[in-house]
Amino acid sequence: MLTIKTIAEMQAWAGASQRQGRRIALVPTMGYLHEGHLSLIRLARERADQLVVSLFVNPTQFAPNEDFDRYPRDEARDAALCEAENVDVLFQPPVDEMYAPGHAVYVDEDGVARTLEGAHRPGHFRGVLTVVAKLFLAVHPDVAVFGRKDAQQLWLLQKMVRDLNFPVAIAAGPTVREPDGLALSSRNAYLEGALREQALCLSRALREARRRFQEGERNAYLLRGAMLDIISAAPDARMDYIEIVDAETFAPVAVVNRPALALLAVRVGGTRLIDNMELSEGAAS
Ligand code: PAJ
Repeated sequence: MLTIKTIAEMQAWAGASQRQGRRIALVPTMGYLHEGHLSLIRLARERADQLVVSLFVNPTQFAPNEDFDRYPRDEARDAALCEAENVDVLFQPPVDEMYAPGHAVYVDEDGVARTLEGAHRPGHFRGVLTVVAKLFLAVHPDVAVFGRKDAQQLWLLQKMVRDLNFPVAIAAGPTVREPDGLALSSRNAYLEGALREQALCLSRALREARRRFQEGERNAYLLRGAMLDIISAAPDARMDYIEIVDAETFAPVAVVNRPALALLAVRVGGTRLIDNMELSEGAAS
């Protein structure tokens, strides 16, 4: 496995691969890899000849009051996991390589990026879209793979690729969960003691919404109420939002009569967690 730390070297490698007619797949990550990331890496492996994983904790998607400084990091372990998955290139640029002094050009979206995660984390999606655009321009992937765990991020990246005509196909992988239902997240490392158990309120709430949906409930207000009851029962959990949106437009719905997503963000102790689940006839996981 090659480790590349500069954009120029990454672009040169990508250009050479393309001249040889090889398809490149990219899996962008912020590291501290878990089975969710690895599932995307395996999916990407099947889609291309050359597999690039990027590892970059992106400062522009964290607000000043957020956890950029204490975001969990273990670069040696991440490199070993990538090596074991037959990753060809680990792209691991330092912060000043991605954001040279004076950097001032950003990619943003004007609608959905202001809602839900974007409403609670102003500037977050501007940071995500900017860094992923820069990664695309460094790695030249034919396909890039993202997780459904971050459903709004996935939607916005698909929108960015369409609106800016990036020649990149976006592929999505399902949310990987612990056996008890908790969606894997690097931030789960923050959950100590009783908070780990309380964090189950997110997946329990989503499963309850799905159960009621499958029994025929279509009223989004009632489905959200059922989710809120479960969050409220966990003593250290505080809801940021609970919403049901149209899967295609990401607009909130009152009646679930087309494929939809139930989404929520909850603070469990000091840790902010997000999760979502599809509500549609025949949705499986
Ligand atoms: P990060 O949180 O490291 O996640 C990297 C990728 O893994 C994302 O596409 C995310 O949706 C996916 N992922 C995380 N948890 C998952 C799970 N339990 N199951 C399946 N996929 C999961 O998301 C980011 O980094 C950043 O915003 C990034 C896109 C890299 C831009 O900085």
